Amino acid sequence: MSHPFDVAETAAAYAGQSPQDILKLAFEHFGDELWVSFSGAEDVVLVDMAWKLNPNVKVFSLDTGRLHAETYRFIEQVREHYGIAIEVLSPEPTPLQAMVKEKGLFSFYKDGHGECCGIRKIAPLRKKLATVTAWATGQRRDQSPGTRSHVAAVELDGAFSTPERPLYKFNPLAQMSSEEVWMYIRMLELPYNSLHERGFISIGCEPCTRPVLPRQHEREGRWWWEEATQKECGLHAGNVIARQ
Ligand code: ADX
Ligand code: SF4
Repeated sequence: MSHPFDVAETAAAYAGQSPQDILKLAFEHFGDELWVSFSGAEDVVLVDMAWKLNPNVKVFSLDTGRLHAETYRFIEQVREHYGIAIEVLSPEPTPLQAMVKEKGLFSFYKDGHGECCGIRKIAPLRKKLATVTAWATGQRRDQSPGTRSHVAAVELDGAFSTPERPLYKFNPLAQMSSEEVWMYIRMLELPYNSLHERGFISIGCEPCTRPVLPRQHEREGRWWWEEATQKECGLHAGNVIARQ
């Protein structure tokens, strides 16, 4: 396995390649060191493609404690379907309990999702990524015209890399449209989160996700009480940092 490669050059070369080719590249360089992040939604496509290329693929999910019951069931269904161990990461109890004690369980409706996402998602993710050299996400350009329209096939993680330790981030689905994702799910009869049968497209935490109306953009169902420009939880903060 050979780690360092020119990220900008490779991203340009892979911009038009298939998700599988991008994943092959990731496995060529990082093998079993590559971690796939799975949110329990339509990014099952990423798990499926990765698993078909490498049945030993490592997968993690961030359990914020606030996911829908359907999402927990779906994560379990995927675990069984592929026979993979999904590492489910929980938030640290001390800061979580302090926040809830001070502000209650729904503080994000009053002062924004930053603090809660920080404790429930970003801190556990940071801790995980500190042990990892490369990860793959299901981010796509069409998920958010505001913040994701430049998502590259591969990048140096703009939020979690450190000068001593570069972290490679692969986004194999970057160029896939929502329609293509769903064609893949249906043609190959992949399991899917049953919330999709009830009008949900983008799925995050239960209190911060709602179904969208016909023709409404999927991102409008996330943190709907906040400005469109803030609809990133920090997991992919590089998208926002890189564009400022
Ligand atoms: S978010 O930033 O708004 O929460 P989104 O739901 O669009 O992210 O998902 C984009 C990608 O981020 C997913 O395909 C997955 O790779 C990663 N991701 C998002 N939420 C989680 C989660 N709870 N656990 C693991 N990965 C996640
Ligand atoms: Fe908290 Fe909502 Fe962020 Fe989930 S999406 S971590 S409930 S603010």
